[in-house]
Amino acid sequence: YVIGIDLGTSAVKILLINMAGEVSCEVSKAYPLIHEKSGYSEQNPEEWIEKTIEGISELLQEFNGDSRDIEGISFSGQMHGLVLLDKENNVLRNAILWNDTRTTEQCRQIYETVGKEKLLAITKNPALEGFTLPKLLWVKQYEPEIFEQATVFMLPKDYLRFRLTGKIYSEYSDAAGTLLLNVSEKKWSTEICDLFGFQLDICPPLVESHDFVGEINSDVASKTGLAESTKVFAGGADNACGAIGSGILSEGRTLCSVGTSGVVLSYEEKNDQDFQGKVHYFNHGEENTYYTMGVTLAAGHSLSWFKDNFAQHENFENLLNDVNLVPIGANGLLFTPYLAGERTPYADANIRGSFIGMDASHKRSDFVRAVLEGITFSLNESIEIFRENGKKIDTVISIGGGAKNETWLQMQADIFNARIVKLSSEQGPGMGAAMLAAYGAGWFSSLKECAEKFLESVKTYNPVTENAEQYQKLFRIYKQVYQQTKSIND
Ligand code: XUL
Repeated sequence: YVIGIDLGTSAVKILLINMAGEVSCEVSKAYPLIHEKSGYSEQNPEEWIEKTIEGISELLQEFNGDSRDIEGISFSGQMHGLVLLDKENNVLRNAILWNDTRTTEQCRQIYETVGKEKLLAITKNPALEGFTLPKLLWVKQYEPEIFEQATVFMLPKDYLRFRLTGKIYSEYSDAAGTLLLNVSEKKWSTEICDLFGFQLDICPPLVESHDFVGEINSDVASKTGLAESTKVFAGGADNACGAIGSGILSEGRTLCSVGTSGVVLSYEEKNDQDFQGKVHYFNHGEENTYYTMGVTLAAGHSLSWFKDNFAQHENFENLLNDVNLVPIGANGLLFTPYLAGERTPYADANIRGSFIGMDASHKRSDFVRAVLEGITFSLNESIEIFRENGKKIDTVISIGGGAKNETWLQMQADIFNARIVKLSSEQGPGMGAAMLAAYGAGWFSSLKECAEKFLESVKTYNPVTENAEQYQKLFRIYKQVYQQTKSIND
């Protein structure tokens, strides 16, 4: 067996996977987000540790086998979050997360100090509020007494791994989302660190995602029931792991994943495609390959926001039950999912969402359908960038929340105008983490071989021409909403 731990934004999801790639047991433990001010999004790293330890111990109780049969464990994690440690490795403040947008001013400073072109040349990415470097600069500027005590920064799942093993490491797929990594050379950028006066050792040492990094420490072993000999492998960014866990391991493969955020990502064998920074360009969790990606900040978040406020006592399944009864276009209701600003294509932290076209006859099911359509339109904006830059996208693998509902899967086929494939497991990131452990432990000679063994497509959804045409018209209107509402918070 191997264990894959996905340290997500709303919960930690832990999977026990057998040698055939089947999920033997799974546990999910939720933790809260802290929104102290509009645009702020934080978490207490201690909650990640507590919930993971509780979750592993529940998983092992459910497993009820010999824990020494669990050969390896690895991680997938929400990207970009800043965890700062002092010289005794104590956490200095709450983690500032990927969907926190307080750092617009620091992004401006990055462009001024590094220059847009140089930043793109080194990091292959633009300065965006969600990334880690702007967060470091924010703490330096507004909490200098904390910054002075910081000796190293960590990304969320790297901190979790540190607490399980006592070893401090990062790996390329997550490091790529910091704006401090030279993505092509796979080295922390001394140039960028120098420009901001950071010691290079504030950045943790780098390894590959499948690298063995240590064993479980005795305290964690006794709390969870894991054997101390369990091998720990580095793991990857949740989107890299989502890609691995969906077999996005060769050129031409595209993934749509809906978690709290939503992403459309595409495999890149090389680092030489030029998207002019319009989509993110990150190191994959597979050695020496890459992926490009567009991000909708509030995808699943839009739906959970709607449920929490207007359907508190229902589960998602019930909430989505009658969306298939509502026609395309939600009877004239249109939603834009900009609850927390938007990344792709607008890179705009200030924009906010909207419902447009409300009618006295609208029912809750119209609103739910509009939310699903709005999220999917937003993801389609990323697909559009890929296509405009010459990428052929005729098939998209769909995982996460978007793959749990038939109507939503068909909606993706119609809006993306592409064939949608559903896999036997839509676990994505957790599965990808487990695959890194399986590959790291030597079960397979490559991740591709592991994917061939572990992953299976179960259903395909083809676009219906008439639906696709209707959606194309609505999509044009959807895109105008941003232009018309962008000054709302100026
Ligand atoms: C990617 C991003 C999100 C988080 C979610 O750039 O910010 O997808 O990784 O966990």
